[in-house]
Amino acid sequence: MTTQPTEPAGRTPITSAADIDLNDWDFWGRPDEEREHAFRLLRDLDKPAFFPEPEFSLGGVTGPGYHALVRHADILEASRNPEIFCSGDGGATNIPDLPAEFAEYFGSMINMDDPRHARLRRIVSRAFTPRMIKQFESDVDVAASRIVDELLETGSGCDFVTEVAAKLPLKIICDMMGIPEKDYQFVFDRSNIVLGATDPEYVSERADIAHALLTAGMELQQLVQDLAALRMQTPTDDLTSSLVNANIDGERLTAQELGSFFILLVVAGNETTRNAISHGMRLLTLNPEQRRLWLEDFEGRAPRAIEEIVRLAAPVNYMRRKVTRDHEMNGNLYREGEKVLLYYWAANRDERVFDDPLRFDIRRDPNPHVGFGGPGPHFCLGAHLARREITAMFRELLRRVPQIEAGAPERLLSSFINGIKHMPCEF
Ligand code: HEM
Repeated sequence: MTTQPTEPAGRTPITSAADIDLNDWDFWGRPDEEREHAFRLLRDLDKPAFFPEPEFSLGGVTGPGYHALVRHADILEASRNPEIFCSGDGGATNIPDLPAEFAEYFGSMINMDDPRHARLRRIVSRAFTPRMIKQFESDVDVAASRIVDELLETGSGCDFVTEVAAKLPLKIICDMMGIPEKDYQFVFDRSNIVLGATDPEYVSERADIAHALLTAGMELQQLVQDLAALRMQTPTDDLTSSLVNANIDGERLTAQELGSFFILLVVAGNETTRNAISHGMRLLTLNPEQRRLWLEDFEGRAPRAIEEIVRLAAPVNYMRRKVTRDHEMNGNLYREGEKVLLYYWAANRDERVFDDPLRFDIRRDPNPHVGFGGPGPHFCLGAHLARREITAMFRELLRRVPQIEAGAPERLLSSFINGIKHMPCEF
């Protein structure tokens, strides 16, 4: 694996949990093996490590700090108890609380608790009618096939992330919403800023991050609100039409709710699936015997192979919760107002649950990973679609370009997304 270009030479090695600072950007620039070692040290502690809030903040109040939940059992328990470990009150996708002006764009259901969360989720789930799901399932297969046609036209290889992995989720989300093809690049660039703002490739100065996020949010919201105005006059069969026009119970989204939901869909649906596909390609390159196994029986082995890719990729590294009242969980005390970070990437490598957790095994069973979140009201709304997209992409790749190999990945500098920005591929 390559390391970040920004990474200073001669970092101090991590020998004990006391050497680990999850607020230090240098930590997130370390290669995978070092991260794996560090999180194992954290999992082996008697109780979760506690970190102060990072110095970088979006302008809100600095909180008391956070417990790093890295064991599978803690993540299940916290996810199952949303009244105690809440997603609202400052947000689930960030460590510092989101200031009010951010809530306008980034305050959708992932950052809410019931009853507001339940209402939004109900309206949105209703719009995913069986007909619509069927329609986009066949669209996924057609889109994956076209992407591989274009890959083959390159003759020998390309940047796998931008030319293969990123294209499928982007097209599917835009098609679902009714966003025309001319706006794909616009959406792609803004979603990179929203989830990649801490990487200098997307926002060069740290001081500009808040401004860049707000601008990207505003531009995405404008795009979908213009579309919504058209669909209110002349509805079509896309998701935007179903969301802005009342459903059978008379429920619909307001313009602001539609805007922030679209931003959530774009970032949640794009960056995650893109990274799962890129990590999957890398895992198949590093483990040729697993590729051979999958090729022997693609359809039969696909369901478990996809779960195994999502387990090890864990594209969403963490979600945050805030403690609503003093509470003891698995023998440890959490105090009201403190935060906990649910490190899915670390829980998916918990040796208490997964046998030989670092091994990529496409036949792993059982595989109770938490890549799509733990059991609770926020479990990933797009898990079914994501599985479908990843399967379609690998079906086309392994069938038509079975010898494709990934080169060294260029990692995203982020503590939130386990991302690959660029990765050469050859065939
Ligand atoms: C491999 C791909 C994906 C991964 C790893 C992933 C992961 C996650 C995770 C970890 C959560 C948060 C769970 C929690 O807070 O408890 C989540 C929520 C969510 N995801 Fe995904 N996701 C993926 C694909 C998608 C896709 C394709 C879509 C949409 C089309 C999507 C839409 C959402 C939404 C809307 C939520 C918020 C649900 C809520 O708050 O009720 N995701 N996802």
